[in-house]
Amino acid sequence: MLEEVRLQEELKKGSWAGRVICLPAVDSTNAEVKRLARAGESGPLAVTAEEQTAGRGRRGRSWSSPPGENLYFTALLCPKLPAEKVPMLTPAAALAVCRVLRAAGIQARIKWPNDVVIGGKKVCGILTELLWDGSGGCQVAVGIGINVNREEFPAEIRDVATSMKREGGREYVREELLAGVLNGLADCFENVYAAGDLTGLKEEYEELLANRMARVEVLDPAGSWKGTALGIDGSGQLLVRRPDGSTETVFAGEVSVRGIYGYV
Ligand code: BTN
Repeated sequence: MLEEVRLQEELKKGSWAGRVICLPAVDSTNAEVKRLARAGESGPLAVTAEEQTAGRGRRGRSWSSPPGENLYFTALLCPKLPAEKVPMLTPAAALAVCRVLRAAGIQARIKWPNDVVIGGKKVCGILTELLWDGSGGCQVAVGIGINVNREEFPAEIRDVATSMKREGGREYVREELLAGVLNGLADCFENVYAAGDLTGLKEEYEELLANRMARVEVLDPAGSWKGTALGIDGSGQLLVRRPDGSTETVFAGEVSVRGIYGYV
């Protein structure tokens, strides 16, 4: 189990101002936070679990969540943004995670819009969900899974997934990482609230963008096409140059992007 005293000590170093509930096991920390919100809880609040029995990823996928070695947590927050801008918090969260991994000595980068990768493999995924209350107000659940000390992966994800331990060659203290990310979320989200968009984080995000100036395939349901990823705009959409020299804005909700030669 996470050591709660250690976690609280680490949290004091930054600006996270909410409670953290540490559970031994749960179906999904996103699902648990949604249940708490429906029961009247409001953020800031974070729920973390040693194990998820039904961890969820984006696009209906599952998130492999074995016990004891990784981090699975969800932050519940009242976003100080209009609902249509809430998706901007996801790239901001990816940046917060990336900073913490880099501070731990890992060469992490961001695969647009919000996967954190090491080399060509994914080490962290983020699932953001907007929760409406009965009176038109909203809260946001930002669910984050980080492969920390995991050594083995199932065959079906072995080629695309990795962990901090596999890349860094040592174990990492999960309490330090969790507190670092929660404190970082508070900072990065305040930055977005103050600017009203991602302009304050754009430069750092682009420096960490794994596929910047790389050839990518844009997987648009209306038809895939190839181009060069240039960076992001102030709302976090990817700017991709088409072979004819025109620049297209790619919206994260509709399409995904993969490298020409692999996942990144
Ligand atoms: C992705 O598909 O990349 C997103 C993965 C998000 C996984 C995290 S683990 C904690 C939280 N609870 C969930 O069920 N999912 C998110």
